[in-house]
Amino acid sequence: MTSNANVESVLITGTTSGIGRALLEHYVESEARVISVNRRRVPELESRYPSVRFECVDVRCAEDVHKLVRDLAASGQLPAVFILNAGINRTDNDDSFQLPVYREVIDTNLYGVLNFVQPLTELPAVHVRRHVVAISSMATYAGNPYGLGYTTSKKALTACFEVWAKMYAGTDLVFQQVMLGPVPTAMYTMADRFPAGMVGIRNLCSASLEATARAVARFALTRKRKLVYPLRAIPVYLAVRLGQSLVPGFFQGRKTLDGRARRAGSSPGPAR
Ligand SMILES: NC(=O)c1ccc[n+]([C@@H]2O[C@H](COP(=O)([O-])OP(=O)(O)OC[C@H]3O[C@@H](n4cnc5c(N)ncnc54)[C@H](OP(=O)(O)O)[C@@H]3O)[C@@H](O)[C@H]2O)c1
Repeated sequence: MTSNANVESVLITGTTSGIGRALLEHYVESEARVISVNRRRVPELESRYPSVRFECVDVRCAEDVHKLVRDLAASGQLPAVFILNAGINRTDNDDSFQLPVYREVIDTNLYGVLNFVQPLTELPAVHVRRHVVAISSMATYAGNPYGLGYTTSKKALTACFEVWAKMYAGTDLVFQQVMLGPVPTAMYTMADRFPAGMVGIRNLCSASLEATARAVARFALTRKRKLVYPLRAIPVYLAVRLGQSLVPGFFQGRKTLDGRARRAGSSPGPAR
C-alpha cells in the first residue's frame, strides 16, 4: 500500500470553474501529477497550468469515460485519487415538470460519476490504494423542490457510494463522498431558491473555495467514507428540512418561483 502521506497523482472532473478549479490549483501547488477532465477546452487554463494533462471528455459519455480510464490503466498512468466533481444544477420543476432538464442533470451528476466507477471496478486488483471521491451535497438531506434532478442525483450518488464504501472496504478501491454545504460558485446562485429569510444565514455558513479544496484533499488522504463540510452549514439544512415538514408551504414548491399560486384556477372536485 502507498503511504498516502502525499497524493502524487489525481484526476479531477470539472476544473473550468468553482470547486474543481480550486482543487486543480491546490494540487498543482502541492506538485501532484494532475489530470483534468473537462467537456471543453479552456486555453487560459491550459496555458496557466502547463504541467497539467488536460483531457476533453464529457462525463455523460460512458464510452469516452471508459476509454479514458482504460487508456490511463494501459499506460500505467492511473492516478491515486479520482475526484468526481463535475456537476450542474438546473430548475426542472417550476411551472411544470421538465423531464429533459431533469434527465440532463441526472446524466451529468449521477451517470457522470458512475461512468468512472464501472471501468475502475473492472480493473484487476493492485497493491496501491485508489481513492474514488464523489462530490455529493447536503441537498441530499434537504431537497430543493424546484431542482428535483439535482436532489435526486445527489441522493442516488450517496446511496451508491454508501454501498461501495462497505463492499470494497479493505481492498485497493476506497470509495468516499463529500456532503458539501454552500460554497460561493456559479452554481451557488441556484441556491437563491432558498427561502428568502434564510439566504443571509446560508451565506454566513458557506465555506471558501480554498478551504473547501484543502478539506477535500485532506479527506482524500484518509480511508474515511464521508466528509460533511462545512459542519457549520448543517443547522441551515436541518432548519429547511424541519420547516418543510412542519410549516405548510415552507419551501415546498407550492408557489411557482415568481410567487404565483400553483395551478391557479383549478378547483379539485371530489376524488373518483
Ligand atoms: N457550490 C455549492 O454550493 C455546492 C454545494 C454542494 C455540492 N456542490 C457540488 O460541487 C461540484 C462542483 O460544483 P461548483 O459549485 O464548483 O459548480 P461550477 O462552478 O458550476 O462547476 C461545475 C463544473 O462541472 C463542469 N461540468 C458540467 N457538466 C459537465 C460535463 N458534462 N462534463 C464535464 N464537465 C462538466 C463544468 O464545466 P463547464 O464550464 O463546461 O460548464 C464546471 O467545470 C458539483 O458536483 C456540485 O453539485 C456544490
